[in-house]
Amino acid sequence: MESLSIAVLGAGNAGTTLANTIAVNGHDVRLWTVEDDVAEDMRSNRENTKYLPGIGLRENVRICGLEESLDGAGFIVLAVPSTVVRAMCGQIKPFLKHYQVLINVAKGIEEDTLMLMSDVIADAVGEDNHIIVISGPMIANELARGIPTAVAIAGTDEKAQNLIQKSFSTDFFKLYKNEDMVGVELGGSLKNIIAIAAGISDGLGYGSNTKSALITRGLAEISHLGAAMGGRPLTFSGLSGLGDLYTTCTSKHSRNRRFGENLGMGMNVEEARKKVEQVVEGIFATKVGYQLGKKHGIDLPITNILYGISHEGRTDVRAEMSDFMQGFNEVHF
Ligand SMILES: NC(=O)c1ccc[n+]([C@@H]2O[C@H](COP(=O)([O-])OP(=O)(O)OC[C@H]3O[C@@H](n4cnc5c(N)ncnc54)[C@H](O)[C@@H]3O)[C@@H](O)[C@H]2O)c1
Repeated sequence: MESLSIAVLGAGNAGTTLANTIAVNGHDVRLWTVEDDVAEDMRSNRENTKYLPGIGLRENVRICGLEESLDGAGFIVLAVPSTVVRAMCGQIKPFLKHYQVLINVAKGIEEDTLMLMSDVIADAVGEDNHIIVISGPMIANELARGIPTAVAIAGTDEKAQNLIQKSFSTDFFKLYKNEDMVGVELGGSLKNIIAIAAGISDGLGYGSNTKSALITRGLAEISHLGAAMGGRPLTFSGLSGLGDLYTTCTSKHSRNRRFGENLGMGMNVEEARKKVEQVVEGIFATKVGYQLGKKHGIDLPITNILYGISHEGRTDVRAEMSDFMQGFNEVHF
């Protein structure tokens, strides 16, 4: 296999995992983080004890400065929170060469502009660089341990997609091509809203019936809104749609589900968020999902209830969930 130079920007849970996974195939992987102590820890101990404890870094994962990581890299993986992607692009723009392909794994939609991450990236760096999106049911802590994982890959350049598909795939990591970049991005961004609702259900002590109802009705919301925004309906039943939604709503690792669980157990939004100790992207997603529903005239019952809880100070989550169950009669799929 051709050996590639790949920069991974962001050495959190996802970035560190991806760097180590890509490195299985012997590529020159350069991992960069804004956090000096994390970089030092990885250099000295060959482990990221803050974000991925217990997983040794492969020999060919080099911890680099930003410029050094970008120098000659054919592929640049953006593995920072979606709220940071625009600023990150601004930081790398002065060093970017036209041939470098940007691969985004951040899941989210930009607040205020309501732009998808690929549009944010193109807006921030210009149109010269191809953009690829990798999204799907990828709990980093599982992938990092070699647990079989499959994700969707979509983008603006098929040649680059083919090369990434071949070069990143391992025995336990598979990438499935999808032509629908809008659909792939939307599934990954909107599922976090439903994951919070699924967590609330867990926190309230509800069971599998409720969880299944939330997953299927949540998928209906994502599909209706996604189709109105130009995504292909079938994409939402694929890896980056139902696949990611199922994982996020059921995994003990999902921070959005855990945030919801804390709410269901009686914490307020601030307490629930603090207890998760990491960025809860679903809180932002709920706001943009609510705004997108209004903009496109799509009824989103779960999203609307979550918006009331996380942004309008509604605290009686049991009553809110009960309202949403009543609403089941009014919508069809
Ligand atoms: N964790 C997963 O399982 C997983 C899987 C797939 C995709 N993702 C997506 O990847 C993105 C990152 O998630 P994560 O789980 O790695 O988050 P994380 O909180 O574990 O790590 C975030 C990383 O971003 C960096 N960062 C934060 N603010 C920054 C700034 N201003 N400038 C530069 N770097 C900054 C941090 O230093 C850290 O390296 C998210 O959008 C998430 O949805 C996560």
